[in-house]
Amino acid sequence: MSIPVWMDVDTGIDDAIALMVLHALPELDVKALSAVCGNSPLSCSYRNTRSMNTVLGTRYPVYAGAEKPLLREARHAPAVHGENGLGDVEVALPADEVLYEEPMWDALYAEAVRQKGQLRLIATGPLTNVAIALTKYSDLKDYLHTILIMGGATQGGNTTPSAEFNMYADPEAAAIVFKAGVPIVMCPLDVTERILLTPDEWKATAANGAKTGQFLCDILKKPWSFHKPYGRAGVQMHDSVPVIYLAHPELFDTEEAGVVVETKGTVTLGKTVTDLYSDKQFDFKNATVVLDADIDAVKRIILNSIGQAS
Ligand code: BDR
Ligand code: CA
Repeated sequence: MSIPVWMDVDTGIDDAIALMVLHALPELDVKALSAVCGNSPLSCSYRNTRSMNTVLGTRYPVYAGAEKPLLREARHAPAVHGENGLGDVEVALPADEVLYEEPMWDALYAEAVRQKGQLRLIATGPLTNVAIALTKYSDLKDYLHTILIMGGATQGGNTTPSAEFNMYADPEAAAIVFKAGVPIVMCPLDVTERILLTPDEWKATAANGAKTGQFLCDILKKPWSFHKPYGRAGVQMHDSVPVIYLAHPELFDTEEAGVVVETKGTVTLGKTVTDLYSDKQFDFKNATVVLDADIDAVKRIILNSIGQAS
């Protein structure tokens, strides 16, 4: 039996790759996608997500969400994801595209009710859309089975010394989601930083004749130009982690933790404070935190998914 999934993305190079993985995994049944402001402005992340229907040969419904974080100015990441969010690669929209005008939160609520408590929500961008949906529909929390989040870190950050990008971009939204009472799977930098695709691996995927392999090479040029000078071996596949966890939890090690998102700190804004390594514990456990993975098996799933998507 396949698992009903909604994925909220800020496409985004690694979001695009995660969508290829999502599409390829037979365990997952994609109900719809939605876009949020994050790696690029909403106009770009919404368009890029719709253009993945061209890349994949699919016609998944794509809904737009928030144009800016709840309280703060938008932050984007053009140095990693390009000005358009997709490494400045232009992909045509499907000629027969159907546009879905409903805001993401209304469509998500209707789908969650339809799925009677079985819908899994994967979120790989800032949590603005998810927070708006949970706030507008107070019973949505009872209809969502799990929210799987790429975000946060139990140690340092990638955007500040304390915070990971998705949490830092909208800390108030993240705080609402972690407090909502829906079971949460948090996939932090601790594990996502270690899922790296190397240039040899992405070039081999294209050389194998996979049409999406060439797309992969094209979109990875921009993040590789950013990461290579730091001496990294490749580009991190952050956003594929919650997707693969949902289909194959047996490939990961997790711990139950109390997690709170810092919204007031100056140096610690957006930090996901966990009680995993503390003598003092919170009096709640609100998240399953993914801490380790069978890295080779996870990478194999990503590379096979890209080969399959052609
Ligand atoms: C996260 O931030 C974005 O740049 C990536 O798409 C990923 O979701 C990693 O911190
Ligand atoms: Ca993302």
